[in-house]
Amino acid sequence: MAGIGGAFAGKAVLITGGATGIGRASALAFAAAGASVMIGDIDDRAGETVSLIRTEGGAAEFVRADVTDPAAMDALVAACVARFGRLDAAFNNAGVLPPQRPFHEIPPDEFALAIDVDLKGVWFAMQSEVRHFLRVGGGVIVNTASVGGLIADPNMAAYVAAKHAVIGVTKAAAIEYAQRGIRVNAIAPGFVVTPMTQHWADSAEFRAAFFAGNISGRAAQPEEIAGTVLHLCSDAASFVNGATFAIDGGQTAH
Ligand SMILES: NC(=O)c1ccc[n+]([C@@H]2O[C@H](COP(=O)([O-])OP(=O)(O)OC[C@H]3O[C@@H](n4cnc5c(N)ncnc54)[C@H](O)[C@@H]3O)[C@@H](O)[C@H]2O)c1
Repeated sequence: MAGIGGAFAGKAVLITGGATGIGRASALAFAAAGASVMIGDIDDRAGETVSLIRTEGGAAEFVRADVTDPAAMDALVAACVARFGRLDAAFNNAGVLPPQRPFHEIPPDEFALAIDVDLKGVWFAMQSEVRHFLRVGGGVIVNTASVGGLIADPNMAAYVAAKHAVIGVTKAAAIEYAQRGIRVNAIAPGFVVTPMTQHWADSAEFRAAFFAGNISGRAAQPEEIAGTVLHLCSDAASFVNGATFAIDGGQTAH
């Protein structure tokens, strides 16, 4: 991580959704910057992320934890503190992308999935983290929203609603805890090639339509998202609070 160095030496970071994609890339970047990393996920590939970090001499653990379960989020925070003795920063990144359909055709279960994982998952994790940070005198939170939290894309209304709400709760928590040592920010990635979006990356039709209206003309790799996450969690961002950072190659500037 250029410019980050050992900025997280001696610190512990919690990441939800660290099995693959943006969460894995961020876990590796935090570890490379000296952090001990606690991953909560429902996918056992989080164990591979842990192995990759340990192979490089870093410290990491994986706890099976479903972000839709508030008790599991309390347990995840407790596991981080038990294993590493501390928790300094949390990256609430777990998410799902329901099938794409017109708004009027979205069935209740797909709406519920987006709200449960993408909104409630961030909400419950934040509550557990904030309770800990209030006990110890502070900490940093970064939530993964999406450009879908800033603008609407067609046929993704449940995801768009949940991600807009993530930005809302990011602001709400930021103003409540600003004077108690807690900063809360969000990131809004554009199109990033991960298991979530591999079907888009593999579709010539989708790529042609997306890149025609996108000034960057390409999708991002997960590693291109991690740098901003680390920055927001670092002391270099000490006055950044309640903000949402678009990491979208200019998509929402166009
Ligand atoms: N890929 C993109 O283009 C893109 C763009 C904007 C935002 N995002 C967001 O980035 C985040 C990471 O997604 P990604 O693209 O890396 O995809 P991904 O599928 O690789 O990662 C999602 C992770 O969340 C985990 N997860 C899902 N449900 C969970 C649950 N109930 N409890 C715990 N963990 C759970 C998955 O196991 C996985 O590790 C998501 O919040 C997603 O909405 C992705």
